[in-house]
Amino acid sequence: MKFNNIPKNLPSHVAFIMDGNGRWAKKRFLPRKAGHREGVKTMRRIVNECFEIGIPFVSVYAFSTENKNRPQDEVDSLFKLMEEYFTEFLSELLEKNICVRIMGDVSYFPESLRNIIADAIKKSASNSGGTFNIALNYGARDEILRAVNVAVQNGKQLDTAAFSKLLYTADLPDPDLVVRTGGESRLSNFMLYQCAYSELFFTKTLWPDFSQKLLYEILNDYSARERRFGKVKP
Ligand code: IPE
Ligand code: IPE
Ligand code: MG
Repeated sequence: MKFNNIPKNLPSHVAFIMDGNGRWAKKRFLPRKAGHREGVKTMRRIVNECFEIGIPFVSVYAFSTENKNRPQDEVDSLFKLMEEYFTEFLSELLEKNICVRIMGDVSYFPESLRNIIADAIKKSASNSGGTFNIALNYGARDEILRAVNVAVQNGKQLDTAAFSKLLYTADLPDPDLVVRTGGESRLSNFMLYQCAYSELFFTKTLWPDFSQKLLYEILNDYSARERRFGKVKP
């Protein structure tokens, strides 16, 4: 039932590596894009759920720098879905007072998509009910290199706080919990700097099948973990 067993000690920032759309479709003899379409629906459901139970920061890995190397028709169908997503759900995010952020190099995207994204960022900039951070054409190595190049140009030595400000995630807390669906136990170039002390959870469930029940199970598992950050238990 909804809102039953909301776990204690919720993470402030949860990040999802939404993997397994293609295999979800393959199992049903559908084209991969059908899996991505279902994945977007799941994203909407689960992200809303996270905000509703009081998680203030939610990140999703939607498109990696390496995903550009997929067949062009799959990349195009992903662009189309992103356009649809922002057009259809922007009003919902605005109504819920959610601030939209993008991390990644959006200059790669078609102009129509760039405009829709810019509109979403602008319209939601002053919202304070939660932050939805979408990784689009994102790669952690690319992000770190961009920051290093800025630092080199400035010619000043940086500490971790100053370096963090040069990343796409400037002003966002590090993820407390990273959830990867689809059965692979890897980060695939996701938030490599920010995840230094994140708790990781890997599930075989394919992203389109991700449910509220599984979310709660994962959050309960997280809340029982002891985070030591290199220290000795007091
Ligand atoms: C994740 O699902 C979505 C993106 C990477 C864009 P996949 O498309 O990687 O699905 P699988 O891993 O092939 O099943
Ligand atoms: C990671 O999934 C990227 C996203 C979920 C957007 P991939 O399917 O691209 O990762 P690999 O290729 O299995 O490492
Ligand atoms: Mg995959």
